[in-house]
Amino acid sequence: MTNISLQCRECKKEYDATFKYICDECFGPLDVRYDFPTINKDTFASREQTYWRYLELLPILEKSNIVSIGAGMTPLLKAEKLGQKLGLNNLYIKNDSVNPTFSFKDRPAGIAVSKAKEFGLSAVGCASTGNLASATAAHAAKAGFSCHVFAPSDIEHAKITQALSYGANYIAVDGTYDDANRIAAQIGDSKGIGIVNINMRTYYVEGSKTLAFEVAEQLGWKVPDQLVIPVGSGAMLNAICKGFEELQSLSLIDDVSSMCITAAQPQGCAPIVDAFKKNSSVVPVENPDTIAKSLAIGDPGDGNYVLKRLKQYNGFAEECTNKEILDAILLLARTEGVFTEPAGGVAVAILKKLVEEGKIDKNDTTICYVTGNGLKATEPLMEVLQKPEVMQADVAKISAVIR
Ligand SMILES: Cc1ncc(COP(=O)(O)O)c(C=O)c1O
Ligand SMILES: [Zn+2]
Repeated sequence: MTNISLQCRECKKEYDATFKYICDECFGPLDVRYDFPTINKDTFASREQTYWRYLELLPILEKSNIVSIGAGMTPLLKAEKLGQKLGLNNLYIKNDSVNPTFSFKDRPAGIAVSKAKEFGLSAVGCASTGNLASATAAHAAKAGFSCHVFAPSDIEHAKITQALSYGANYIAVDGTYDDANRIAAQIGDSKGIGIVNINMRTYYVEGSKTLAFEVAEQLGWKVPDQLVIPVGSGAMLNAICKGFEELQSLSLIDDVSSMCITAAQPQGCAPIVDAFKKNSSVVPVENPDTIAKSLAIGDPGDGNYVLKRLKQYNGFAEECTNKEILDAILLLARTEGVFTEPAGGVAVAILKKLVEEGKIDKNDTTICYVTGNGLKATEPLMEVLQKPEVMQADVAKISAVIR
């Protein structure tokens, strides 16, 4: 049985693991700390093919509170063809676009909704750039909870359709993600709703640690050399670091300090990259403008912590243009058969850049996190792909154009 407590990331003050996310003393964020039971590599081997296989490393205390829609244990694809194109011998794609709601957000949302159940709540919600909306709504549907989504009104059509289909109460905010986030925070507190990425953030982020656990296990409990991670708020990048560190503390993997971690952001909303390059703290972007709408978070909650992680892990931060994102989406699709949304395109575009700049050795074990599915954001691609011409159902005519 796992024991958990909370600890302030800043002043280190400890708290019981209650429905709480900010330190009373210094307003710092709270993290979950574990008193892990004895675990070895075989503990997980025969378990279910979802991220719930790591239950002892997650903050849910009672198995009966698990709300699962079968997320996790997504493929770690050896990307031979893309690797060849880029000049990498050991490139892997962590394909999280094939989760049940088609993004990595099923990981943190599933943990937060389960924790909401453990706390006896019956209403959840989120501030979302699109993907979290569906992940939260789907888990809420499974749990029988109501779900309130706050998202900018201009996100992709498919993401809105998807969240509505799971039955969410969808609030389309005329503003940026940061506006939606501010409103969700106030409504969550005043109405006692578990807003998964705000007042439940302490627990929510724990779900994304499983992106580290799975990669380590799928590599045969090896530590990768390079990680390329698309970044919006920075919560996922931080959680991946925490995940690898916890595996090291359990002696399941070797020392992780030699890993190199890169934050990938789109031009038009790259506050963390800007800060990294200027060696300053993060200055919010007021009006994000990028086709990578899921990364359009102008004021990243974990931005300064990402900067710390990049220092700790010999890392880089890079940005790419809309054109580079679209090229990268097509490159990944046409080499590996993986269709990603722009956030995944950002990761692949930056991976390419890092190789070109000589920042990745050709033999490095390199993990590129592809975090969302292409079907969620077809609009920008249809601007560059040639629409098929409608042809008469005539064999001779069609035969004439097949070469
Ligand atoms: C597909 C996808 N990838 C990456 C991210 C970035 O995650 P984070 O905000 O934790 O940095 C998001 C955020 O919404 C996303 O939807
Ligand atoms: Zn504190």
